[in-house]
Amino acid sequence: MTIDILTIFPEMFESVLNASILGRAREQGLIAVEATDIRPFSASKHKNTDDYPFGGGAGMLMMAQPIGDCIKAVCEKRGVPCPSNAKGETPPSGVKRIYLSPRGVPLTQKLAQELSQEQHLILLCGHYEGVDQRVIDQYIDLEVSIGDYVLTGGELGAMVLTDCVARLIPGVLGSEESPRDESFSDEGLLEYPQYTRPRVYEGMEVPEVLLNGDHAKIAAWRREQALLVTKERRPDLLKKASMTAKERERLGLL
Ligand code: ADE
Repeated sequence: MTIDILTIFPEMFESVLNASILGRAREQGLIAVEATDIRPFSASKHKNTDDYPFGGGAGMLMMAQPIGDCIKAVCEKRGVPCPSNAKGETPPSGVKRIYLSPRGVPLTQKLAQELSQEQHLILLCGHYEGVDQRVIDQYIDLEVSIGDYVLTGGELGAMVLTDCVARLIPGVLGSEESPRDESFSDEGLLEYPQYTRPRVYEGMEVPEVLLNGDHAKIAAWRREQALLVTKERRPDLLKKASMTAKERERLGLL
């Protein structure tokens, strides 16, 4: 998978892309992630990327031209088509051009799983008060929000999306970092609590059941804990979670 990030602040991505699991995955060639500066694509004398909004209002908008030219250049460099959505041209298969925006569809584990199946993601980071709608209509296939709050720009959103998609690509996580049993996995429950050494920390003991090597008991305890923590913190998730009738009854949901 290739992820191209289009931004006026490419330097924001350096440490995030080079550190930890993402850095290792890039080194191993499992994923290519590159941040491209939009500014050099500006046709204006001073390489401006923003301007005042027509109709007035607070703040500045990112101009369509530098963004459009940057998206086209990245597509050309990768040898993929860059169709115009506004003209109804056929969307390329395996490529998604995404604009990070609070107006987008919410980023969920399910969406991350879908996006991890693509071959190429192009992530556009907006700034100021937004982006000229015409470049969105023309070249963006999907708008994605990372939550119901407003960030100063799309960069942090692009990092979040890159991270949660990258870890779903086969080989990116080592077997010891397996994505099974996690919060928001197929079961739709939050994760059970986990413990490591020492057995006693500041007077608090590790739950006894985890120490006796009885794997059936451990699995049952973990399942129970996952159900309880989900009920307490995210009861909304229980509606869609896969549970037995007995479990639903025990949680008082029947
Ligand atoms: N840009 C500004 N706010 C955002 C959000 N919540 N999600 C994605 N991109 C954004």
